[in-house]
Amino acid sequence: MTVATTIDPKQVHEIIGRHQLADGYDMVLDVNKSHGPWLHDAARGEDFLDCFTCFASWPLGYNHPGLNDPDFERELLGAAKCNPSNADLYSREMASFVDAFATHASPEGFDHHFWIAGGSLAVENAIKAAFDWKARRLGRHDFNDDVNDLMVVHFQYAFHGRSGYTMSMTNTLPDKVGLFPKFKWPRISSPGIEFDLDGNISNDVAALEAHALAELETFRTRCPAGGDKIAAVLIEPIQCEGGDRHFRPEFMQGLRSFCDRADALLCLDEVQTGFFGSGKPWMWQHHGVAPDVVAFGKKAQVCGIYAGKKLDEVKENVFVRSSRINSTWGSNLVDMVRSRRFIELIVEHDYVNNVAARGEQILAGLRRIAKDSGAFTAPRGVGSLLAVDYPDGEARDAAIGRCYKERLIVLPCGPRTMRLRIPLNMTEAEANEVLNRVEAAAKP
Ligand SMILES: Cc1ncc(COP(=O)(O)O)c(C=O)c1O
Repeated sequence: MTVATTIDPKQVHEIIGRHQLADGYDMVLDVNKSHGPWLHDAARGEDFLDCFTCFASWPLGYNHPGLNDPDFERELLGAAKCNPSNADLYSREMASFVDAFATHASPEGFDHHFWIAGGSLAVENAIKAAFDWKARRLGRHDFNDDVNDLMVVHFQYAFHGRSGYTMSMTNTLPDKVGLFPKFKWPRISSPGIEFDLDGNISNDVAALEAHALAELETFRTRCPAGGDKIAAVLIEPIQCEGGDRHFRPEFMQGLRSFCDRADALLCLDEVQTGFFGSGKPWMWQHHGVAPDVVAFGKKAQVCGIYAGKKLDEVKENVFVRSSRINSTWGSNLVDMVRSRRFIELIVEHDYVNNVAARGEQILAGLRRIAKDSGAFTAPRGVGSLLAVDYPDGEARDAAIGRCYKERLIVLPCGPRTMRLRIPLNMTEAEANEVLNRVEAAAKP
């Protein structure tokens, strides 16, 4: 057998680049030597401090000691030696994952689950669940009924992925969705909060919310297809790729009331914000406004949706009727085994409260650096999801480049935002080191 680790790390980019676009990071991940938030570059022989966490998808850093548990290793290897179609062929490993997720991750009252690989497909299936639900609410039960007038209301600056339905709603950077045919569904303005250096709200967000809710209502009353064709209102509880745009609970409550009036489902995209990343299991719990369907992915390892009781108002909903939503593998058994272990470790070590504290610590440090240096504005965040704004995209990109030179990996988002995505188990000392490096890189 070819042993991958015999490849010279300095050849990795050249080998991959011979056969595909290889314009990612110039480092080479060493999966064995990376540890905690330290990503080991096999080419340079150096460690990078990881505030990128594989686009917010890697929850507990590298090589958590809990992953050396012999029972876990045995189950993981067993699962890795096959690849069952989990939607139809069940195993004890799957049962153990489903039980752990439903017990510790899913909130009370959300008893429907569906698993798939990929965040876009999770959102796509949330939308499918809503379309099916709405069609049947309108009395369209025959599979030949025309439902092309149904639509999903979504928001400016949204990122929901790059698959079929989701591309009609993603509107961050044009290169993600341009030149691909899309549906023309209603796009509502996005009343994001602007923060000052102390975390106070500095814009007239209540007016922006009122405007967005009025747009929604106007659309419903004037829509040529009839306002009762809205199947879902879809929103990220923080718009991450769009620039870490936070919303007030009042706005989420406004959307909830609208959905109830319009007989539509409130669908949340928690692919980036969910699975304990905000210092609570789900970001919507900070707002205290319960949705109907939630799409998750990334840190959960397994992507999918969970849904609540409103779905049951339609007897034959997609969680009951076979084969309405499905995929061959129904996610992946290796991911399920790993996800279950992560859930166990998160619960055992109380990493949710840890990340809430680390978030506050880093946020306080970012505020201090912003005041001392004047380099950036609007420090904001919750738990593992932190961000600051630079004056423009060029200044932001230059700062991210300086961070990389300091061996700190952070990410861009939106037009001028630099975001940090920390692992849930980051220590206080590691968080201080993040701040040291952000400060060193803050200004040219
Ligand atoms: C909010 C949100 N939704 C959906 C997606 C798409 O997930 P994936 O890239 O796994 O398809 C992302 C990815 O960044 C995301 O942040």
